[in-house]
Amino acid sequence: MTDTMKQIVLASYAKGNPKPSDFRLEEVPLPTAGDREILLRTLWLAVDPLFRFAIDEVRLSGATHLELGDVMVGATVSEVVASNHPDYEPGDVVEGRTGWREYAVVAPDQSDYRGPPRKLDRSLAPVSTALGVLGMPGQTAHGGVETLRIKPGDTVAISAAAGAVGSIAGQIARIKGARAVGIAGGPAKCQALLDLGFDGAADYKSPDFAAQLKAAAPNGIDCYFDNTGGDVTLEVFRQLNRGARMAMCGYIAYYGMGFEGPGPDHMPALYRTIMNTGLEIRGFAGVFAPPSVLEEIAGWISDGKITYPETVVEGLESAPDAFASVFSGNDAVGKLLVRVADLA
Ligand SMILES: NC(=O)c1ccc[n+]([C@@H]2O[C@H](COP(=O)([O-])OP(=O)(O)OC[C@H]3O[C@@H](n4cnc5c(N)ncnc54)[C@H](OP(=O)(O)O)[C@@H]3O)[C@@H](O)[C@H]2O)c1
Repeated sequence: MTDTMKQIVLASYAKGNPKPSDFRLEEVPLPTAGDREILLRTLWLAVDPLFRFAIDEVRLSGATHLELGDVMVGATVSEVVASNHPDYEPGDVVEGRTGWREYAVVAPDQSDYRGPPRKLDRSLAPVSTALGVLGMPGQTAHGGVETLRIKPGDTVAISAAAGAVGSIAGQIARIKGARAVGIAGGPAKCQALLDLGFDGAADYKSPDFAAQLKAAAPNGIDCYFDNTGGDVTLEVFRQLNRGARMAMCGYIAYYGMGFEGPGPDHMPALYRTIMNTGLEIRGFAGVFAPPSVLEEIAGWISDGKITYPETVVEGLESAPDAFASVFSGNDAVGKLLVRVADLA
């Protein structure tokens, strides 16, 4: 083990979509574990658009807010390399939120509301899945689909469907008997959705997006799992059936726009849609599905009902580019991960 480690800190608050230059790579002394603490070596880092909320200058939403110079927040899978805590021993692999750094010291007794680092069963699935299908994104997909109250035969549209949450949400909707229609940017991502078993796909970057969506959902849309807001959602609103339900999971199209955004004002379209269709909207933030749902998802994986694509970029230094790409466009399908180190 060396005496120093790399970490990535917030260099400037994000204005609009995040840029790689909003972050700075630093070399700092390796920390040591004190009494009832553990030293973790990062193996995998999740690229989660959710943490865009942490890097606004003014806190708009979300539990985490960074000061300039703070290590960027991020979910990680790590190996315990030293332990002064009875519940952990070297070689354990854990999931936590230790941020964009190669090593971190954690005091399991003083963990945040998410609890102490979660020990992973390495025989169950590759440990990277703790950041995707068998972690927060999987729980989010499961919980969001539950709120839609799907009836067999319903058509469920999912925005950002090729992402970590959407790719799993669509597959769970199909398990519940729905017809799943994914919305994503570009023909390659749409083909990836069909390969995952989605019943239809529509490319929102194509000039004929509205027609593609209509062709994929010829009987209209009964349920909408929304990850984006923006123009995608406006088109979905036009194609909703009466009595539609919407799970508002995310609104990535608006994350860089402050509280109100610059306009134009789309509230009239929202009001018209709610009244004319009887649309019910349920928003949620934070993982509200109990960890037991991960067992159910693991069962679906072993039954071959769910597949979980991952896209991997190499090295901690790649994290700023990978994070920015989520907002500016990328080829990633499924969970986007940074491989920081290999298991010893
Ligand atoms: N409520 C919660 O508790 C909770 C928990 C986790 C995540 N979330 C939210 O759920 C959403 C999906 O998260 P994720 O982890 O699945 O993200 P992800 O895997 O990083 O996928 C995000 C995708 O969103 C698409 N996108 C970006 N900007 C867009 C825009 N302006 N219009 C339409 N699509 C756009 C991009 O795909 P394309 O190439 O297809 O454009 C991008 O790859 C995010 O909004 C996230 O913040 C909410």
